[in-house]
Amino acid sequence: MQEIAMTILDIAQNSIRACAKLIQIVIRDSHKDNIIHIECLDDGCGMDDKTLQKVTDPFYTTRTTRQIGLGIPMFKESVEATGGWFSIESQKGVGTKIIGEYVKNHLDTPPMGNIAETLITLIQYDDHIDYVFQYICDDFEWVLNTKEIKDILDGVPINQPDIILWLKDYIKEGMQK
Ligand SMILES: Nc1ncnc2c1ncn2[C@@H]1O[C@H](COP(=O)(O)OP(=O)(O)O)[C@@H](O)[C@H]1O
Ligand SMILES: [Mg+2]
Repeated sequence: MQEIAMTILDIAQNSIRACAKLIQIVIRDSHKDNIIHIECLDDGCGMDDKTLQKVTDPFYTTRTTRQIGLGIPMFKESVEATGGWFSIESQKGVGTKIIGEYVKNHLDTPPMGNIAETLITLIQYDDHIDYVFQYICDDFEWVLNTKEIKDILDGVPINQPDIILWLKDYIKEGMQK
């Protein structure tokens, strides 16, 4: 069972490969509604209708380095196995939106895993890509916007080692509130 943090990394890596400049990730983790809602929205190259139809087929990928694409089909299967739902919308030249919603208390719902690690991995990869990360629980909401952090950093690259170390703690603390 792949942890949710790894699934998000997979899905956001697709967005990076699609040359997205802004990637928005939402996690809503709600006891009250018994759901874990995951959303990834990007402004990358998008997909035409033909690709979009194939994309939930486990044997489809446009990559050449791995024969079988498992990212999206696995995400879809894993949310549906819990009684949840999956959706993908995409428009060529505009972007892609992927939503997967798990039933929180289902036995097959994967553990959250290390979300801070996933975000750090993404942010470190390319400082020209911006992220808006929203973490919503029943009693609080936390937002990380790399554009705002870059404004404060005033030209210092966000993926510099000491900034990354600080970010790690900042994210962990933010999500624990
Ligand atoms: N956010 C996205 N924007 C544009 N194309 C995408 C996006 N996500 C997925 N795709 C397309 O769907 C294909 C399948 O994705 P995926 O299931 O994650 O497998 P893989 O990444 O191994 O190819 C990708 O190769 C790509 O062509
Ligand atoms: Mg992928």
